[in-house]
Amino acid sequence: MVVLGIETSCDETGVALVRDGQEILTNLVYSQTDLHARYGGVMPEAASRDHLRKLPALVTEALQKAGIPWNEVDLVGVTYGPGLIGPLLVGVSYAAGVALALDVPLVGVNHLAAHLFALKLADPPVDPPFLGLIASGGHTLLVAVPAWGEYRVVGGTRDDAAGEALDKFGRLLGLPYPAGPKIDALAKEGDPQAIPFPRPMLESGLDMSFAGLKTAAIYWLRDHPGAPLPDLCASFLEAVIEVLVEKALRAARRFQFKRIAVAGGVAANRRLREVFPARAATRGVEVFFPPRELCTDNAAIVAACAHHRYAVLNISDPLSLSPDANLPLHGWR
Ligand code: KG4
Ligand code: ZN
Repeated sequence: MVVLGIETSCDETGVALVRDGQEILTNLVYSQTDLHARYGGVMPEAASRDHLRKLPALVTEALQKAGIPWNEVDLVGVTYGPGLIGPLLVGVSYAAGVALALDVPLVGVNHLAAHLFALKLADPPVDPPFLGLIASGGHTLLVAVPAWGEYRVVGGTRDDAAGEALDKFGRLLGLPYPAGPKIDALAKEGDPQAIPFPRPMLESGLDMSFAGLKTAAIYWLRDHPGAPLPDLCASFLEAVIEVLVEKALRAARRFQFKRIAVAGGVAANRRLREVFPARAATRGVEVFFPPRELCTDNAAIVAACAHHRYAVLNISDPLSLSPDANLPLHGWR
């Protein structure tokens, strides 16, 4: 079964063709970051227009690259939330049009569940049960996943997401949006212990807060002009990582998972990928990451999730499927 996956929830236009929910034939991502760089964040109206401009051509390109003619597409999977409503509308409307024209099922996908499906596309595939840590630019949450299609959110951020905190900190430093990958690179040359940034809410519970960390950074930068950029990046990143790692390990222990799966854009971070497995091993917990290119937004993860929803759970959606900007993961199948 060939699934056409479509992702337009934020500022990446993604189109992928995936066979049997496992084999990626093509996975094209067109990033709008240049368009949004001058605003220092995503401009929803500009994002919607750019998805509309780019999506049809990207689908044609994906079919060509995969050598798949239109009539070999068996299913259309599309992100219908959570995300920006305008960009979601573009993807969902287009996907419904394709499903109608080809007379194939349409399957709506939860963007956060799709991030977890990056693990199913790993080699070898990683399947539940696991405690999921989803850390992206829009979300940071801890989710108990006993099986694919069963999601119980057990903790998360009360304010900024982990990626958002990195992006905002980067903005303070004058780095272009999104700053996460640049902080990743700069941190390699810096000392993670150089600056004692706080670890908010570290000692108890499964909730996180990153807004206070940003405020602490504002004061620190004000009082220490000229601090070396690599040390700043390494130290701030270390604070974010320590909170993510400790909370995920605490959740794994509380809900008796011996395995943690990390997903979302921040899972691409090199330091996190190095530190987390080592720290978890001392507590008898195994940590899994998707391939780096599947951590950030893309449509292969959408296709994989849609395939599971249709082929295993027998779910498809009507052509009238509406996007939901606030679609929750908790209880979604
Ligand atoms: O999952 P994603 O592509 O989009 C959302 O669903 O939000 O995540 C994007 C976020 C951004 O905040 C970006 O700065 C961060 O992931 N990010 C990283 C890295 N690559 C992307 N953060 C740290 N290190 C990276 N290598
Ligand atoms: Zn995402």
